Amino acid sequence: MSFQAKPRVLFSRQEIEATVRKLAAEISRDYQGKHPLLLGVLKGSFMFMADLIRLLDFPLEVEFISLSSYGRGKESSGKIKVVRGLRSQVRGRDLLVIEDIVDTGLTVAFLLDYLRKKRPASLKLCALTDKPSRRQVPVTIDYLGFTVPDKFLVGYGLDWDEKFRNLPDICVSEE
Ligand code: IMP
Repeated sequence: MSFQAKPRVLFSRQEIEATVRKLAAEISRDYQGKHPLLLGVLKGSFMFMADLIRLLDFPLEVEFISLSSYGRGKESSGKIKVVRGLRSQVRGRDLLVIEDIVDTGLTVAFLLDYLRKKRPASLKLCALTDKPSRRQVPVTIDYLGFTVPDKFLVGYGLDWDEKFRNLPDICVSEE
């Protein structure tokens, strides 16, 4: 796919907005009276995180972590590293991980394992999209936006080689 190619819309900005509202309602119901730490996985979750937290009407904190798994291509290397670690205390906190996409599951399985060792009071996962056909390790998604086909997605924070994150819709990048 060239940088000029126009990706095809899979979920429009209106569909995304409705789905983020539905997720925010579920999360609000479950976290009333708590003070969770929402942990966004950089970079792909930044737009989703920004829209989601504006719809949450209870006290919360925001933190980001950066992991490396993908190289410059479209296939996961399977080797995951923490590139930017946590700067907040996690022990005893209600922790909600915010992911853009669960694909093979390797990244989030690594992250959940890494976080569990830090002894949070609770640990849940919210993912905007899920590509179950590519799963290599089992992952439980507590709050899920869209189940997606085995296509490479871009837009609404998702990139291909750092490009297309700014598209307001979730699109399929076609060769
Ligand atoms: P996993 O480890 O294979 O589950 O991949 C997780 C990470 O790979 C996501 O957080 C994304 O950064 C990236 N990724 C996986 N599939 C896609 C896609 O279709 N578009 C853009 N990024 C993707």
